[in-house]
Amino acid sequence: MPTGKCGECEVHMDERYELRNARYLAADAIQRLVQPGDTVVDATMGNGGDTLFLCRLVGEKGHVYAIDIQMDAMKRTKERLDAEGLGERVSFSLQGHQHLREIVKTPVQAVMFNLGWLPGGNHECTTHVETTIEALRQATEMILPGGMVSVCVYPGHDEGTRELSAVESFCSELPVNRYTVLANRFVNARQGTPQLFLIQKNRIQPPE
Ligand SMILES: C[S@@+](CC[C@H](N)C(=O)[O-])C[C@H]1O[C@@H](n2cnc3c(N)ncnc32)[C@H](O)[C@@H]1O
Repeated sequence: MPTGKCGECEVHMDERYELRNARYLAADAIQRLVQPGDTVVDATMGNGGDTLFLCRLVGEKGHVYAIDIQMDAMKRTKERLDAEGLGERVSFSLQGHQHLREIVKTPVQAVMFNLGWLPGGNHECTTHVETTIEALRQATEMILPGGMVSVCVYPGHDEGTRELSAVESFCSELPVNRYTVLANRFVNARQGTPQLFLIQKNRIQPPE
């Protein structure tokens, strides 16, 4: 049975399924999709939890592109991966994810976005609507048919609230003959609880 860890959320497929939180649900979907040998992207490296999770899923023949704008995030992630002996599976990029197409030249199976700021870091350095939407536009184009983009949004702060509304609009405008999109919201949770969007490119694409 596949087992992976996503930041503080652990997903063990041999455990009973749990409606734990947005990150857990994202990890659960990505884990079911990604296979050894795949190429994937962590578009918001942060403390490296998702990068590590993806490294385990793609195995030694796969590859992970890990992106963040903060040197601290890259340092923390590198340390974490080196401790596990997995650093060689990763290409690190210290650029904004809005440059995704320049950073990653090949189609990918999955792209994970975990929006907001670096846990334990500067709250000013958060993701922003314009760059997030541009990155999502590129990510949805770059995924292979059947591939997936996961987006955890944190509407508990002003920019996060703007991102939620923009991500929702972006997702609702994706053509249904090319993409299937699921919005996960905990309807009885307190305001500001993180929400998850899963965007899958349909396996059968219409002719251009
Ligand atoms: C919530 S954290 C990510 C957590 C991470 N996935 C983990 O497992 O620890 C969000 C990260 O997005 C980064 N970020 C902000 N703007 C960005 C941008 N334009 N491109 C890439 N990363 C960005 C922040 O520096 C921060 O580290």
